[in-house]
Amino acid sequence: MLSVQGLVAGYGRVKVLHGISLEVSEGQLVTLIGSNGAGKTTTLRALSGMIRPEAGRITLAGADITGLPSFQICRRGLAHSPEGRRVFANLPVADNLLLGAFTRLTGARPKGDVLRDRERMYELFPRLAERRAQYAGTLSGGEQQMLAMARALMLNPQVLLLDEPSMGLAPKLVEEVFSIIARLKREKVTMLLVEQFAAAALDVADFGYVMENGRLSVSGPAASLKTDPAVRAAYLGAAH
Ligand SMILES: Nc1ncnc2c1ncn2[C@@H]1O[C@H](COP(=O)(O)OP(=O)(O)OP(=O)(O)O)[C@@H](O)[C@H]1O
Ligand SMILES: [Mg+2]
Repeated sequence: MLSVQGLVAGYGRVKVLHGISLEVSEGQLVTLIGSNGAGKTTTLRALSGMIRPEAGRITLAGADITGLPSFQICRRGLAHSPEGRRVFANLPVADNLLLGAFTRLTGARPKGDVLRDRERMYELFPRLAERRAQYAGTLSGGEQQMLAMARALMLNPQVLLLDEPSMGLAPKLVEEVFSIIARLKREKVTMLLVEQFAAAALDVADFGYVMENGRLSVSGPAASLKTDPAVRAAYLGAAH
């Protein structure tokens, strides 16, 4: 569904990604783990067109999307729940969700039933339901994180990119977010998940990639990465 070959990208003259190749098949949950500064967020930014790749090829559902502007990539069904949330602070929760479906409302993507899907988001994220009229800027950090995820889902995406959906959440909410991710997986939403909680991400994922200094080192079925001694030592800590 999402296929990346030899992706090179960075910021100005600073190269961050030195040739990344990865695959996310339809209905699969793939996780990308790695240390701080490894280039995980940069990878997602390059995929969704927030930064322009310098080399490589990205295809979505067979179509080449390399170098397209982000609004066109979004129209083709790639949704990005970004690091640091970036919700529309001066709009209520309900309107933030509608904006997630903007390309459906303008007819650039199949419309479906936008209001029904918003109800579904309220069911998935009961905290957002309670706060539907509240300005997004006044939500707690964790609630904003959930809103960013729900807003991305409102695209009815072909592929959903999730950048640290558990960031800043209290342990109980982290569990809740992982159970939502597991549920989306059961519903066959195709996802690429970047997570700081590597063990939890590998528990829920089908396949995983480990990123080190802008390159992918180890990859494999999530269950086997979890038992890989090098991965355990570097990313899973002694407790896991
Ligand atoms: N806007 C930017 N301009 C210049 N350099 C940047 C920019 N954003 C990130 N970088 C650099 O790119 C490298 C990779 O950063 P990136 O945010 O992709 O890491 P990450 O794997 O997501 O890390 P984390 O786990 O801390 O979120 C880092 O060295 C970072 O300093
Ligand atoms: Mg990051």
